[in-house]
Amino acid sequence: QAGDIGVVGLGVMGHSLALNLVRHGYTVVGLDLDEGKRAQLLRVAEGRARAVASVLDMLQALQSPRRILLMVPAGAAVDAVLAELRPHLARGDVVIDGGNTRYTDTQRRMAALSGTGILYVGAGISGGEQGALLGPSIMPGGDAQAWPLLRPMLQAIAAKTADGQPCCEWMGSGASGHFVKMVHNGIEYAEMQLIGEVYALLRGLAGLHAREAGQVFAKWNRGELESYLTQITADILHHEDAESGQPLVDLILDTAEQKGTGKWATQAALDLGVPASTMGEAVFARAVSAAKPLREQAAKLLPGPRPDGGQGPEWIPRLRDALLAARLCAYAQGFQLLAAGNAEYQWGMDLVRIASVWRAGCIIRARVLDDLRAALAASPPPAHLLLAPGLGDMLARTQQPLREVVAAAVLQGTPVPGLASALASYDGLRTARLPANLLAAQRDYFGAHRYQRVDRAGSFHTDWIAL
Ligand code: 6PG
Repeated sequence: QAGDIGVVGLGVMGHSLALNLVRHGYTVVGLDLDEGKRAQLLRVAEGRARAVASVLDMLQALQSPRRILLMVPAGAAVDAVLAELRPHLARGDVVIDGGNTRYTDTQRRMAALSGTGILYVGAGISGGEQGALLGPSIMPGGDAQAWPLLRPMLQAIAAKTADGQPCCEWMGSGASGHFVKMVHNGIEYAEMQLIGEVYALLRGLAGLHAREAGQVFAKWNRGELESYLTQITADILHHEDAESGQPLVDLILDTAEQKGTGKWATQAALDLGVPASTMGEAVFARAVSAAKPLREQAAKLLPGPRPDGGQGPEWIPRLRDALLAARLCAYAQGFQLLAAGNAEYQWGMDLVRIASVWRAGCIIRARVLDDLRAALAASPPPAHLLLAPGLGDMLARTQQPLREVVAAAVLQGTPVPGLASALASYDGLRTARLPANLLAAQRDYFGAHRYQRVDRAGSFHTDWIAL
C-alpha cells in the first residue's frame, strides 16, 4: 500500500507524530539514517508504517501528490533535506516543515521554491512529545493549495477542544504558520517567567514551602488561572527527589537554557515596533539565570533593601490576581505582535482562529484564551485586547493587586521583570499623556529632529540654545 505521508526525522517529535498518524489510520513512511530509530517506529507501529533510510526510497513509497513532513532540527538540517528532496519532487508535491523554524527562513525557502509548483507549508506544532503523540496544536501556513491535501490528516491528529473542534486551522499564506508558532513561544516564555516569579513570591513573600506552593497552584488551576503551565507547575512542585525526599525543584540548578524562539519573537517585536516587553524580559531573565557564577559573587557584594515586614499567607490571593492580570497583558502583547506581523506581511491571518487553535494541545493553552477569543471575535474588534469589555473587567479587578505585588517584590528585592513589565505595559497603555514630549524635545535639541505640537498642526524646530 502506498504511503499517505513521509516523515523525515524520527527523533522524539517525528516519531510521536508518525505514531499519531498511524493510530489515525494513515500509512506512514518514516525516514531516518539511524537504524535504531527506524526499528523503533516499526516496532510500535505494528506493521502500519514503513521505515526507510533514503530520500529516494521514501519518495517511491509515497502516493502522489506526495506529502512530506520534515521533523528535523530547525536551521541547516532543513536546508540540507530540502536540497536532497528538491530534484526528485514533482509539481503538486507538498513539503511541510513542522519544526520550530524561524519564519524568515521559511520566507527564504518559499521564495527559492516559487515557480516550481512544489507546495511549501511552514507548520508550527506545539505540545511537546505528549502532544505530538496524543494531539498537538498545529499551525500550518503557506501555499494554500496544500491545505485541502493536508486538512483531513492534520485535523485528525490534532488536539480537540472541549467542544470537539480540532486545534489545527489554516493560518494564512507565506510564513504565517511559523510566525504564529514563534509568537506562541514568546507567550510561552513570558508565561513561564511570570509563573516563576509568582512561585518565588509564594515562597519569599507568602512564606510557603515548595509543596504548599504546589497546592496553591493546583487550587488556582481549578479557577480562572487554569492553564497547562499552571498545572505542570503544581505537578512539579509536588515532586519529591527519590533519594533525599526533598522537593526536586529545590535541587535543580537555577539556570534556564533557550533554543531561540523567544528571542526571535522579541526581535520581531522590536522590528515591528510592538511593545512586547514581557516576552523580552523573559528572554533577558533567562540570560540573567545563565550567569550563575556572577550572581553568586554579586550576591555577596551588592546590598539589597532593608528588611521589610508584611510577609505571610495573606499575600496568596493577591499573587493569584497579579498572575491573572500579568497573564492577560502578556497574551495581549502576543496578539498585538500577531496583528503587526499580519499587517506587515499581508498573510491573511485571522486572530480568532489563532486563539482557537491555542485552546488545546499547545503549551500556552489556558482558560483565558476563551475570553481572549471572545474578545477578538467581537464586532467591531477592540482596538486593543485589554480594551475588550470582558478582559477590561478582569483587569479592573486585578490591576491593583498586581501593583501591590510588584511594589512588595521591589521592596523585598525579589526580581520580578515579568510582572513589572506587564504592569508597565498596562500603565503605558492607559496613560494618555506620556513624557515622550520631553523626549521629542531632546531629539530636537541635539539633532534638530523636529517635533509636533498639541496646539497646532505642523512640524517644528526650536533653537534651544543660542550658539
Ligand atoms: C511547544 C514548545 C516546544 C519547545 C520549545 C522550547 O510549543 O511544544 O514551544 O516547541 O519546548 O521550543 O523552547 P526553549 O528551548 O527555547 O525553551
